[in-house]
Amino acid sequence: MIKIAPSILSADFADMGREIENLEKSYADFIHCDVMDGVFVPNITFGMPMIKAVRRFSALPFDVHLMIERPEKYVGAFIDAGADFITFHEAATDKTGEILELIGARGKKCGIALNPDIPLDGVEKYIEKLDMILIMSVFAGFGGQKFIPDSLKKIEAAAALKNKYNKNLLIEVDGGVTLDNIRDIENAGADIAVAGSSVFGAPDKAERIRLLKGERQ
Ligand code: DX5
Ligand code: ZN
Repeated sequence: MIKIAPSILSADFADMGREIENLEKSYADFIHCDVMDGVFVPNITFGMPMIKAVRRFSALPFDVHLMIERPEKYVGAFIDAGADFITFHEAATDKTGEILELIGARGKKCGIALNPDIPLDGVEKYIEKLDMILIMSVFAGFGGQKFIPDSLKKIEAAAALKNKYNKNLLIEVDGGVTLDNIRDIENAGADIAVAGSSVFGAPDKAERIRLLKGERQ
């Protein structure tokens, strides 16, 4: 069954501790944290202090998606703040190999994120070292965008790579995930779906997460 990583970008920032506590009670599998720096993407969200402050509200793994330039400068600080998974965009750094090693040396899980216009080829050489590959199904920067249908082919291609080179690789899909497209995303081979507006816009978050997973009401 596909796992759900609600993105706290769509949560109530004034009540973040409680929002995260509720997600754990609502069958979420990961807490997805979207970190944006206003440089790599045209939006600014939050950084290490927020993650550190809310970390104690859930025992779920914190899945930190860095949309920042020069992620190598901050990876250690995000691990100190409580990140379990750290995913970064390769286009934001020339130190990909070093970052993957640094995250592994600290005993955490590493991932590379790919915007819709970045092909899979570039990450093939790292595939055996990765714990996660994050396929963006919208351009990184904002919640609430529309899913790009071509992403399904990229998920299938990532699943083929996983099958060939690294069976433990987690394929995560991020952006515009809804009840209307999640079964296609799952069938294409995704292990985890990020869901921001779909979860936080629902009248009952627990019910929405269960439905996204494919459980019946
Ligand atoms: C976009 C972020 C996503 C986003 C998902 O840059 O990486 O995680 O918050 O939000 P929805 O599910 O609303 O597209
Ligand atoms: Zn994200």
